[in-house]
Amino acid sequence: MSRPDQVAKNIELVREKIRQARRVLVLTGAGISAESGVPTFRGAGGLWREYRATDLATPEAFARNPQLVWEFYNYRRQVLAPLKPNAAHMALVTLENRTPDFVLLTQNIDGLHQAAGSRAVVELHGNIWWVRCCGCGRKSEDRRLPIPYPPYCEACGAMLRPDVVWFGESLDSHVLQTAYDNLERCDVMVVIGTSGVVQPAASMGLYAQQHGAFVVEINLEPTPYSRAFNVSLLGKAGELVPQIIEESPPSS
Ligand code: OAD
Repeated sequence: MSRPDQVAKNIELVREKIRQARRVLVLTGAGISAESGVPTFRGAGGLWREYRATDLATPEAFARNPQLVWEFYNYRRQVLAPLKPNAAHMALVTLENRTPDFVLLTQNIDGLHQAAGSRAVVELHGNIWWVRCCGCGRKSEDRRLPIPYPPYCEACGAMLRPDVVWFGESLDSHVLQTAYDNLERCDVMVVIGTSGVVQPAASMGLYAQQHGAFVVEINLEPTPYSRAFNVSLLGKAGELVPQIIEESPPSS
């Protein structure tokens, strides 16, 4: 079978599996937002001023220089503010609307799934449009641009921080529990635009597969998990996700 025939066959297989599934779980990473203009973590352009994102998105950096970290997050919010969901985000809303049991796990903090209209979103790494008090832990949405420095909690007066998971921090235990409960019971899992190098999200596809799910990966390029999953589709999320989800057959 030629490669285009194999790709078409794989797309049809995935469409069929999704149509038949009662419980569908989707895991997204930075790649799904790339076509909206959000920079990916491991792509080009990772520097802000002279800093790497991975050096500023840490509890140590915030303890050392909270103003610098807040300037970095205000910059990131400024970049994200005008961006819009793309065809892949929109197709996942269609999928949610017609699936009896649907959950969307995302590693993205950009809020684009919610902007598209997705409802059952579990944010593994938090949300850049929310803040959390370092003292009392109170969380609230805060869309000010920029957030004036220093931001203080109205309830207890302690410093606010972005409500995101930083490098070296653990994921919220309730969020993780919800993720694993859903990974254990889904019939089909679709892993979209994640490089598969940051745990625990990286191994969630294998975990679902070990619990009986049919696992599909969509990515521009192969990942460490591509060969292990049931199907790996190579290409842009903005093209492939609508193709596997829309009711009408794919045109190619
Ligand atoms: P990465 O930047 O590591 O990976 C993005 C993936 O998307 C790569 O595998 C690309 O090949 C793929 N990709 C890029 N454009 C795409 C497109 N148009 N369509 C489909 N795939 C595309 O981002 P993540 O895997 O999300 O964590 O990174 C995981 C975590 O690492 C992030 O959530 C962040 C980071 O450190 C925290 O901040 C805690």
